[in-house]
Amino acid sequence: MKRTVGSLVVILLMAFILTGVMAQAEKAQYIGTDKCKMCHMSKSRGQQYPIWKESKHSKAYETLASEQSKAVAEKAGVSGDPQKAEECLVCHVTAYGEPKSKFAASFSMEEGVGCETCHGPGSEYKSMKVMKDLAADKIDPATVAFKAGDKETCLGCHNEKSPTFKGFNFEKDYAKIKHPTPE
Ligand code: HEC
Ligand code: HEC
Ligand code: HEC
Ligand code: HEC
Repeated sequence: MKRTVGSLVVILLMAFILTGVMAQAEKAQYIGTDKCKMCHMSKSRGQQYPIWKESKHSKAYETLASEQSKAVAEKAGVSGDPQKAEECLVCHVTAYGEPKSKFAASFSMEEGVGCETCHGPGSEYKSMKVMKDLAADKIDPATVAFKAGDKETCLGCHNEKSPTFKGFNFEKDYAKIKHPTPE
């Protein structure tokens, strides 16, 4: 009997901790690429922000306003402004379709495909302490909604559903956008 009660307490405690951890990850919000900028600018840290800014990902929303986009939309049978069309926005901005509560006031979809598209919503991991702990493998990324970034993420957009799909090769295409932390 004593042992059963003991195990029950352990199970309840584990459930409690798990719920707490999940709740923290759950409340994570998209804060916008500008919030990552201050710590990811310098050469010594790897210039992730400028590398991203130069990449096509930062222009993905802007692109939807081009004449080419209007033609692409027409051909795909999408009517109206591509910058307002769900059929285009799903791949041309960060986290399209997630509930409003997931976005902080600092976020704007005009940033296009921002850092948080591949690394997860940043509100719970953006502090210096958490970032350093993540880099040192001291905390479980899932508890702060952080993702390292991988091929699966890319394939979510770089696929045949893209009306302009030209094929995707992870090794080659990742090399074009890579932004490692220097050793
Ligand atoms: C307060 C400063 C700060 C802010 C803000 C910040 N970072 Fe970091 N980030 C760091 C530091 C420090 C590291 C550890 C690596 C290093 O020394 O450069 C790091 C590491 C990372 C890593 C690599 C983690 C690993 O496992 O190696 C990623 C990815 C990352 N940051 C993404 C982001 C994103 C996305 C944002 C915005 C949502 C962001 N960071 C905001 C300071 C910051
Ligand atoms: C499934 C994801 C996805 C959807 C949906 C999507 N795009 Fe894209 N779009 C991409 C990707 C990825 C690229 C990069 C090039 C490529 O592989 O197609 C791209 C590139 C583009 C380009 C630049 C092409 C070039 O030659 O440089 C235009 C213009 C464009 N998209 C317009 C649109 C419009 C308009 C819509 C809606 C009708 C749309 N896209 C829907 C993923 C998508
Ligand atoms: C299109 C997806 C994508 C975007 C956008 C993106 N990243 Fe990454 N990032 C990755 C991938 C993939 C990796 C490599 C992960 C690995 O090596 O396991 C990575 C790695 C990193 C690293 C760690 C590099 C290392 O050496 O460990 C940092 C820091 C980082 N990203 C920060 C950022 C910041 C800051 C932004 C925005 C300014 C950003 N990333 C935008 C996909 C992306
Ligand atoms: C949310 C959707 C999305 C995700 C996820 C994504 N991309 Fe993209 N990517 C795009 C769009 C949209 C464009 C085209 C933007 C434009 O031309 O305006 C693009 C463009 C590119 C380009 C430039 C292509 C060219 O024609 O020059 C490269 C390279 C690229 N992505 C690599 C990656 C890699 C590697 C990953 C994963 C680590 C990734 N992308 C994840 C949507 C995405």
